[in-house]
Amino acid sequence: MLAIDNLTVAYGEIVALHGVSLKVEAGETVALIGANGAGKTTLLQTISGLNPVRGGDIRFAGASIAGASCDRRVRMGIAHAPEGRRIFPGLTVEENLIIGTAPWRRAGASYADELAFVVDLFPRLKERRKQLGWSLSGGEQQMLAIGRALMAKPKLLLLDEPSLGLAPRLAEEVYERVSRIRTSGLTILVVEQNTVLALAVADRGYVLETGRVVLEGSAADLRTSPRVREAYLGR
Ligand SMILES: Nc1ncnc2c1ncn2[C@@H]1O[C@H](COP(=O)(O)OP(=O)(O)OP(=O)(O)O)[C@@H](O)[C@H]1O
Ligand SMILES: [Mg+2]
Repeated sequence: MLAIDNLTVAYGEIVALHGVSLKVEAGETVALIGANGAGKTTLLQTISGLNPVRGGDIRFAGASIAGASCDRRVRMGIAHAPEGRRIFPGLTVEENLIIGTAPWRRAGASYADELAFVVDLFPRLKERRKQLGWSLSGGEQQMLAIGRALMAKPKLLLLDEPSLGLAPRLAEEVYERVSRIRTSGLTILVVEQNTVLALAVADRGYVLETGRVVLEGSAADLRTSPRVREAYLGR
């Protein structure tokens, strides 16, 4: 579904990604792990069209999207739940979710099915649907960011550190939902520093270090890899 080939991305003189190649097949959940500054967010932002491609290519459903606008990529089925959540603080939970339907919904069209799917996954969002975004807890904001991305009816869901800043119990709860989204058949690329959580839900994974893929394999192989254990699992 997604094929990234020899991708180079730079911010001025600073090269953030040096010839990264990776694939996500339809129905797969793929984890991208790596330390602070490795280039994980840069990669997701480049897939969704927020950073220009300096070299290489990004193909989605068989066609190059390297030159496509953000808007077009969203309409093609790429949804991004960004790092730091980026929900609208002055809008209610329900309004934030409705914004997610913009890529496909014509004025007056129903979004009941999509909303039912999201509130079934995150019942707390239903209880709080009239509450303003800013007043939600960190975990609730994360659930809202994922819920809003799902409202776009994506084919590929990009998640940037869904566990960031959450207490361990809440991080596990968010990942339990990611696992349910995976089971529903959606294709997911998840970026994480929490290697344990990400590799528990993923089929496969890639390790990114200073803008380069240094290791890739099945999630099971990465979990037991000495290199991953030493660098990312603290043992
Ligand atoms: N807007 C920007 N302008 C200049 N440099 C940037 C910009 N955004 C990121 N960088 C640099 O690119 C590199 C990769 O950053 P990126 O945010 O992609 O890392 P990350 O793996 O997501 O890190 P973290 O785990 O801390 O979120 C870093 O060296 C960072 O300083
Ligand atoms: Mg990041």
